[in-house]
Amino acid sequence: MKATDFLTVRDLSTKEILETFTIARAMKKNRAKYATALKGKTLALIFEKPSLRTRTTFDVGIQQLGGYSLYLSPAEISLGKRESVYDVAKNLERMVQGIMIRTFAHQIVVDMAEYASIPVINGLTDYSHPCQAMADYLTILEHKKTLKGLKLCYVGDGNNVAHSLMFAGARLGVNVTIACPKGYEPDAVATQQALDDAKKTGAVIDVVESPQEGVKNADVVYTDVWASMGQEAEAAERKSIFQPYQVNAELMKRAKKDAIFMHCLPAHRGDEVTADVIDSKQSVVFDEAENRLHAQKAVMYQLMKRVK
Ligand code: CP
Ligand code: NVA
Repeated sequence: MKATDFLTVRDLSTKEILETFTIARAMKKNRAKYATALKGKTLALIFEKPSLRTRTTFDVGIQQLGGYSLYLSPAEISLGKRESVYDVAKNLERMVQGIMIRTFAHQIVVDMAEYASIPVINGLTDYSHPCQAMADYLTILEHKKTLKGLKLCYVGDGNNVAHSLMFAGARLGVNVTIACPKGYEPDAVATQQALDDAKKTGAVIDVVESPQEGVKNADVVYTDVWASMGQEAEAAERKSIFQPYQVNAELMKRAKKDAIFMHCLPAHRGDEVTADVIDSKQSVVFDEAENRLHAQKAVMYQLMKRVK
């Protein structure tokens, strides 16, 4: 891995993403073999938003590699308020061997990576969620045995998760259709970047308004919450706008017969997905959640093994 930080999936080449999957699968198969891979190294976990999966998988993941984690809550650091991002970076690089951050503005992780001499891993920003996409495509690979040429349809808000799924799809040759209401499309720059990257792999990236059209022929149907963390005030308004984008049994029927259902979680049964879909045999949501652990261990290993 050439990159020294992992801020977006675009930091990695196609080959590096596939290599990361290979390492993740080896780690999943034989945990003991990697028990001292990051012996004695510490990862600081900065959280400015809540988390179940990200916190648990980074915490457990670094321990399984022989290292330690340090949880820093929003109350503790208060990035940019109690202390500048620059000063936090300059302190932490003297004390730990890696930083994972979950925050609001993407620029904060970009700045942290610029200032800190140690690896910075994006654990979700308003703009992207690269660790999620790595775990998701690893999960798709496990279930479908291949990636290139598959079709993933993401139904819902053109948010951080949608961006990362487009970036990774473009790199991996997976066709990604985003089906979203007008006004909730993915960021225009992100879409253009995915389209540019897709030229190399032949992936088709498109944004449509109709979920029924979008899921046609899909191997994977994916959705996420209608109001992301930080958008709580818009929740009621979004609930009515996104109602036609609910992934239910009827919509799933329009995808391929053997389509899998995915969701980054947390999920709201009855809103973006019905209980019969998320709890069905087609659903692989807990495989995705588990694969956060394996994919991130592979990312941490490649970035942090170099740090003294
Ligand atoms: N999918 C995901 O990132 O979950 P958490 O918000 O619980 O970390
Ligand atoms: N889009 C969601 C993802 C949660 C993992 C959010 O940002 O809240």
